[in-house]
Amino acid sequence: MFESPFGDSIIQRAREEGLLDFHLHDLRDYSLNKHRRVDDTPFGGGVGMVMNIEPIDRAITAIKKEVPETRTILLSPGGQPFNQKKAWELSNLSSLTLICGRYEGIDERVRLHLVDEEISIGDYVLTGGETAAMVLVEAISRLIPGVLGDPDSIIEESFSSDMLEYPQYTRPRDYQGLTVPEILVSGDHKKIRDWQRAEALKKTERVRPDLLKKNKQRES
Ligand code: ADE
Repeated sequence: MFESPFGDSIIQRAREEGLLDFHLHDLRDYSLNKHRRVDDTPFGGGVGMVMNIEPIDRAITAIKKEVPETRTILLSPGGQPFNQKKAWELSNLSSLTLICGRYEGIDERVRLHLVDEEISIGDYVLTGGETAAMVLVEAISRLIPGVLGDPDSIIEESFSSDMLEYPQYTRPRDYQGLTVPEILVSGDHKKIRDWQRAEALKKTERVRPDLLKKNKQRES
């Protein structure tokens, strides 16, 4: 499941250049159960299975033996929402251990005692944390210096300044009557910049007014 996204050209090149690396651990390898089980029925009854604490504890212990400073993160819809600010914070750490749970349930003691934090990638439920882990890996990897060719592009883009991106256009200037805004071909850089800012603001007001509210709260 992880091979293809982690073998993607940008991430693969970064791995080859030694900018980052990944190690996959199968929780079943840490199960002491003869059937390599990692979940069981819930105490108190209820539907579905709950992931056992033991394989997760044994996996984290083994990883921390090699990398004591690793930050342990449980992926679950019950976690703090993931965003660009969090991606920046995590990109500065030397090691992350991403624990992919099944949503049906994880023994609460994992949350309480084993992990440093719990992260959700959005208000929807996936069957497992694996795709969520890939989202984190992709968002974080590209912020590591050297992984992307042009570091300026990262600063410019959406959410870096809590504002959506301004609209962009490229050739042709006229596509079947759909034309590019005149200002962008005017050559007046100040006017272009002002237009881009105004468009970004307009779009943010329309689509994500919550981002502007957050900005205001921070400023006051
Ligand atoms: N596992 C299941 N749903 C998830 C979500 N929304 N975010 C992170 N991990 C999850």
